[in-house]
Amino acid sequence: MTESVQAYNDGPTRLLSEITEDFKGYLQYMKGLGYAGVALSENSLRILDDRYKETMAETLDMIRKDLGTCQRCKLHRGRKHIVFGAGNPRAKLVLVGEAPGYEEDIQGQPFVGQAGQLLTRILRAIGLAREDVYICNIIKCRPPGNRNPEPDEIAACIPFLRRQLRAIRPGLICAMGTFAAQTLLETDTPISELRGRFHAYENASLLPTYHPAYLLRNPGKKRDVWEDMQKLQEAYEKA
Ligand code: URA
Ligand code: URA
Repeated sequence: MTESVQAYNDGPTRLLSEITEDFKGYLQYMKGLGYAGVALSENSLRILDDRYKETMAETLDMIRKDLGTCQRCKLHRGRKHIVFGAGNPRAKLVLVGEAPGYEEDIQGQPFVGQAGQLLTRILRAIGLAREDVYICNIIKCRPPGNRNPEPDEIAACIPFLRRQLRAIRPGLICAMGTFAAQTLLETDTPISELRGRFHAYENASLLPTYHPAYLLRNPGKKRDVWEDMQKLQEAYEKA
């Protein structure tokens, strides 16, 4: 384990070792009372496993491994590559889009097509390089013909994004477009009302803004996004 990962794991690891110590003490006490052993049901084991995953600081590599060659939804049939996410695993800012498009599916990288090039320019305008931040999407496989993600596809995929966000623990999240903002905030309020202010997402501040692909079709909205980006930059410098 590298030093940085160790430092990052320290809190939860300490917590887990305390729990383990408590549990050992309890078992010794039970033994003292004459119990020969403890039986755990399948269900308790599953609950313990889920708790462990929640408490344990997973790394992005662990989450990627768990995702595997995912077939949890129908999108696996048409995809070329899973687009897991890219960038700094310790980023202060994570940007979340909707779904991979044509180029992203081919390259296995998020935001590398036309919208991605605009995103790169937007980031540069607030003094950030793609390598500074982490970039990912609500779903990891390209919907055929770039149609909207469907509820079953989002449901299958979103636990992985939520785990990625817990692994990175950014102070700031920028949700780009309707799907990212509404899914992460669990709301159906329109993006036009959500954007431009910070919302709470677990321990992070989440700023919704318009999607760069939307900007390509509606250049008149660039001013709104520019205002949002000024807020993001200001928060980034404090984070
Ligand atoms: N649009 C998205 O929402 N995500 C990408 O990765 C590319 C385009
Ligand atoms: N609709 C979307 O899907 N995204 C936007 O950013 C704006 C409108």
